[in-house]
Amino acid sequence: MNDQNPEIQSRYHDVYSSWKRDPESFWLECARDIDWVSAPVNAFDKSMGAYGRWFPDATCNTCYNAVDRHVENGRADQVAIIYDSPVTGAKRTYTYAELKQEVEALAAVLRDHGVEKGDRVLIYMPMVPEAVFAMLASARLGAIHSVVFGGFAAHELQTRIEDSNPKVIVAASCGIEPSRIVPYKPMLDAAIEHSSKKPDACIILQREQHPCDLIDGRDFDMAADVAAHKSAGTQVPCTTVKATDPLYILYTSGTTGQPKGVVRDNGGHMVALNWTMGAIYGVEPGEVYWAASDVGWVVGHSYIVYGPLLKGCTTIVFEGKPVGTPDPGTFWRVIDEHKVVALFTAPTAFRAIKKEDPEATYLPKYDISSLRTLFLAGERADPDTIIWAREKLSVPVIDHWWQTETAWTIAGNPVGLGALPVKLGSPTVAMPGYDIQVLDDAGHEVPAGTLGNIVVKLPLAPGNLPTLWNADERFKDAYLAEFPGYYKTADAGIVDEDGYVFVMSRTDDIINVAGHRLSTGAMEEVLAAHKDVAECAVIGIADALKGQTPLGLVVLKSGADRDEMELEKELIAAVRGEIGPVAAFRTALIVQRLPKTRSGKILRGTIQKIADGMEWKMPATIDDPAILEEITAALARRKIGATAA
Ligand code: COA
Ligand code: AMP
Repeated sequence: MNDQNPEIQSRYHDVYSSWKRDPESFWLECARDIDWVSAPVNAFDKSMGAYGRWFPDATCNTCYNAVDRHVENGRADQVAIIYDSPVTGAKRTYTYAELKQEVEALAAVLRDHGVEKGDRVLIYMPMVPEAVFAMLASARLGAIHSVVFGGFAAHELQTRIEDSNPKVIVAASCGIEPSRIVPYKPMLDAAIEHSSKKPDACIILQREQHPCDLIDGRDFDMAADVAAHKSAGTQVPCTTVKATDPLYILYTSGTTGQPKGVVRDNGGHMVALNWTMGAIYGVEPGEVYWAASDVGWVVGHSYIVYGPLLKGCTTIVFEGKPVGTPDPGTFWRVIDEHKVVALFTAPTAFRAIKKEDPEATYLPKYDISSLRTLFLAGERADPDTIIWAREKLSVPVIDHWWQTETAWTIAGNPVGLGALPVKLGSPTVAMPGYDIQVLDDAGHEVPAGTLGNIVVKLPLAPGNLPTLWNADERFKDAYLAEFPGYYKTADAGIVDEDGYVFVMSRTDDIINVAGHRLSTGAMEEVLAAHKDVAECAVIGIADALKGQTPLGLVVLKSGADRDEMELEKELIAAVRGEIGPVAAFRTALIVQRLPKTRSGKILRGTIQKIADGMEWKMPATIDDPAILEEITAALARRKIGATAA
């Protein structure tokens, strides 16, 4: 355990300095681990795009690097994917050779429906291996996939269809939550019906737990079509794309209800992710790497699919939860059974296990000696959870900080280079690729240890977003405009005198619920659309399990005489129906008035501090201080947040 043996020298400082001295040579060297169609000569062209583009002269194919090259280089019989599904009882493995066969056959199906380089393929699937096949099949054709998380409802799906305009949608008939089956097809049909953009075809994975009806001429049975191509032995060569061509679009919450389509390129993404597998996660080809997340999130894209497969590892597609499928020993069972060396999950997952089994009584039933490191990300890792996990698992617990936009670690503790001492509450230090600075609101650098806006000096690292899909101006406005020369992370925090980063909170309206990134603006749009609501505010309040949960405050239209409970039920159902169950929106409080500044800005931050029982100051610009007393009383009446104590 390196963090307890600081005398073990980390190579981090040398590697970071070598990157800083000459970033282009650093990344060109890393690029040698990728198989290119034409290898990069130049690492970076600063004249391209919003801030420059990585590997402008190279060509490649990501599927080739994640699949074919391993088949050709001695890993054909190594397991590439382990599918472990405690919610269905299914377990299957796919070797790299089998993975190639599945991907090639599905690519042939997509090609039958006209999918070509640059076309979009939208994927709406739960945690089944076919979701990974679909991503890789799209990449094989040089198409651009866009995966939509299964916990989103029809409206969210519709906005993504509208924005990405997919030629084909690949979907499953259902997802499976521990408490219920989630039929996907009605949501898919509704989303397509309400979208002005229609796909040419939908390829449907029929699951035996809940098969669905197929629409004649539009929907096609995935299993039958894939089987036909497998028996015909159809070959689909990997399409050569530019390193700068998009591999995928992943929509993430923005400050309005309209999600942002984060674009990922092919070349820089491969180079960076492949580097992280060794340097940050410390894993070797052939080892079993498990990211217990979902392919609908960036963690799933980077570390269930692309990172481990580019590296030649075995990855696990886990369709279950940390608790309740069937018990809080599931993670230990998976580690034991599949000999996992590195586990990556969100702190919420460990808080859930700790809550159900505080003494970790399920742990001794399993042999988890294969596990070398636990990695946490997606939300702030609270010290209690880190300490608990470290004690119970007897392995280093590594927090690291990144975003959908970056695809990989901005600040972390690079186990592969030799871990640095851990400071609880900090995801450790800037990774090569990132010159992290902290600026005040006027854009001036603040002294070490001072809270401010965390920014990254441009250019961004390979693999980070070059732009937003069809929205270059929005990209510049959202990320580059406020602090010229820097990328705004929208996280506030501190860098201390040792270079350790502390990420404290978001500077925008994004909240983090159980490691899921959600926009309170999007929830406000749903509440505001209710016929009886005059105005509203949604804030994230502290939650012991999920980190944060959303709280809605609504003011009724004059004359709207509504039973509070009934209205609350309607509002909860509206958010669930429009955004999805993953929003975990369970409380809508009716208040007389909302506190505002004299210029009419709702004082969301102050309400949040009151709800969380934090110290707060009366904002100088408040219009009517009495409203805060009303809010405090309303929270106390419902025993919400800190007022519950
Ligand atoms: N499809 C459909 N519904 C989904 C879903 C999916 N893929 N994922 C979650 N939901 C639903 C849940 O069933 C729940 O529905 P309910 O309101 O009917 O109970 C709702 O969305 C909220 O889900 P969640 O916030 O995840 O809470 P939970 O109580 O179901 O589970 C945990 C709690 C801690 C077990 C769960 O949040 C978890 O595993 N967290 C780990 C975080 C994680 O993997 N983050 C990914 C980024 S690394
Ligand atoms: P997402 O894009 O869903 O990965 O969410 C990114 C956001 O989650 C970041 O901007 C942070 O606000 C938060 N986040 C992710 N990882 C961490 C971490 N290790 N510590 C603190 N916050 C984190």
